[in-house]
Order: sequence, then C-alpha cells, then structure tokens
Amino acid sequence: VANDNKRVQLKIVGICGSLRSDSYTRSVLEIALASAQENGADTELIDLRKFDLVFFDEDRKDDYPADVEKLRSLVREAHGIILGTPEYHGGISGVLKNAIDLMGFTEFEGKMLGLLGVSGGQLGALNALNSLRTIGRNLHAWVLPQQVSLPEAWKAFDENGKLKSAAIEKRIKEVGKLITEFATLHQLQNHKEFLELWQRLANNPGGTK
Ligand SMILES: Cc1cc2nc3c(=O)[nH]c(=O)nc-3n(C[C@H](O)[C@H](O)[C@H](O)COP(=O)(O)O)c2cc1C
Repeated sequence: VANDNKRVQLKIVGICGSLRSDSYTRSVLEIALASAQENGADTELIDLRKFDLVFFDEDRKDDYPADVEKLRSLVREAHGIILGTPEYHGGISGVLKNAIDLMGFTEFEGKMLGLLGVSGGQLGALNALNSLRTIGRNLHAWVLPQQVSLPEAWKAFDENGKLKSAAIEKRIKEVGKLITEFATLHQLQNHKEFLELWQRLANNPGGTK
C-alpha cells in the first residue's frame, strides 16, 4: 500500500439561506467557517444576495444568468459545504432550496455536508435541519451527524454580535472543525486504499453469541 498522503489545500464553502442584512443564519455560518479556517481550510461564504439567480426552470436553463454557473462552480470547487438555513414555516428557506435545485450531484455527491439552522421560536430549526439532512442524502452527500439548531436567534447574540452561549458557539465551531477533518480524510490516499481493501473483504466482526 502506497504511503503517499499528499495534502491538498481544502476549500470549505458556506451557503446562507437568508438574504436578511442582519441575518442570524449568516452569523452562525461565519462562526463555523472561521473554525474551518482555524483548522487549515480556505473558506468562502456564499452570500446569495450577491448572486443574480433565477427560479430553477428546466425549460429556461439555456438562458440562465451567468451567476448560476458562478454558484455551481464555487460549490463544485469546494471539498466541504456548510448549509445554513432559517426555519421558515417548519421547513428550509425557499432561497436555499432554489439555490440547491439549481445544482445537483456534480456539486454535492461524495462531499461532506454540515448543517446549521436558526429559528425565531423556541422549538429551534429541527424541521428545517431534518429536511436538509434528507436533501443531503438525496444528493449523495455525507451529512455530518453533528449539527446546530439555534432557537430564539433574536436573543442569542449580545450587542457586539457575539453569541451569548459559549456552549452553542463551541458546537457551531465543532461543525466547522469536523467538516474540515472529514473532508481531509476523503483526500487521503491511504484512507481510500484502506476502504477499497475493506470493501473487498467479508465484514463480520462478531461480538454476539
Ligand atoms: C417566512 C417566515 C417563516 C418563519 N417560520 C418560522 C417557523 O416556522 N418557526 C420559527 O421558529 N420561526 C419562524 N420564522 C422566524 C425565523 O426563523 C427567524 O426570524 C430567523 O431569525 C430568520 O433567519 P435570519 O435571522 O437568518 O434571517 C419565520 C420567519 C419568516 C420570515
């Protein structure tokens, strides 16, 4: 087995599902991306306010504005993706869903996907996060088990825009860190070889009588 673990420079992008100028979703994404950067990745926040997108329409796909391809290309280039969504009517935002609909397997398949959600209400963004998890599965992405739902986002930050809860901040940072670590694993040659070998062998580790 070759021992060639050349590291590629990882790129992690975050896509913000809220267009609001003071979006809490964007704030939590920024924390996760900063953590990914601290762990060695290049990062980019994809701010959909800056993209001239259209509603997904199969019939008009030849007339899409250039920003559709710009979005696809940024996500294609990324090794890991963090999606941030507000909880809207018990689901993900239309802005984020449409952006995802403009993309597909080429951008997501086989990549690490991290999820963050914020809500105005006490119950958090779990419905939106569960929808995103299902969407990630359908895109054949590796959806990270760790995720953060920030309830009552409007009272979660202090006047300097810092999260009041150190525990929640730590969990958001953990998402950025884990996305980077697992994306690194995907790049390792030895890891791929290990998996290829493992998949060829009958796997029955036992442990039951
Ligand atoms: C159209 C719409 C639907 C919403 N639906 C819910 C909801 O179902 N549950 C909830 O807790 N908050 C709901 N909210 C509140 C948002 O989750 C909250 O304002 C959140 O902070 C928005 O994200 P942002 O700060 O990133 O813009 C809704 C807000 C909007 C505009």
